[in-house]
Amino acid sequence: MTASASEPTEKSPFEVVGGAPVVARFVGRFYDLMETDPAYAPLRALHAPDLGPMRESLTGFFTGWLGGPRDWFVQRPGMCMMSAHAPIPMNADTARQWTQAMARALADAGVDPEIAARMNEAFERMAEGMAATAAARRVARAAEVAPEGVSG
Ligand code: HEM
Repeated sequence: MTASASEPTEKSPFEVVGGAPVVARFVGRFYDLMETDPAYAPLRALHAPDLGPMRESLTGFFTGWLGGPRDWFVQRPGMCMMSAHAPIPMNADTARQWTQAMARALADAGVDPEIAARMNEAFERMAEGMAATAAARRVARAAEVAPEGVSG
């Protein structure tokens, strides 16, 4: 089973986009946009005052998610993005702000357009699911105010 020189080697999206410097660039741009463009103020308000730890975390996440080094996932066994976002009080507007800011960040950072398009599609699905989960959680919380037959 020796690989011949003519055999195409499958590159990960992480490698195709340009590796760590490009991931750092689009994540940095994403949070810069979030901090400076008033259109994303409601999204910014959901985050902690210091975005430094988030810049680092999202960079680690995308590095592994795109097929690069998986340290971020190894350090967080069983981490589920949907569950992690369930307590965040987002709605359809803030979810849209996230996907729009990320689409801009990918374009501004010069990410390969074909990969950026695939990423944007995935984010739209994830963001839609996250916003729906957050809404369902609000409904469940409201129902808990007057639970049937439960006291104390
Ligand atoms: C749908 C809209 C979204 C909103 C409103 C949102 C909001 C947030 C907020 C408020 C935090 C916590 C930040 C803090 O503590 O300051 C967070 C963490 C995070 N989000 Fe999102 N997010 C969204 C979508 C996404 C998507 C689609 C992804 C991945 C593709 C993602 C990846 C992450 C990661 C990796 C973290 C850090 C988790 C950690 O370090 O424990 N988010 N998000």
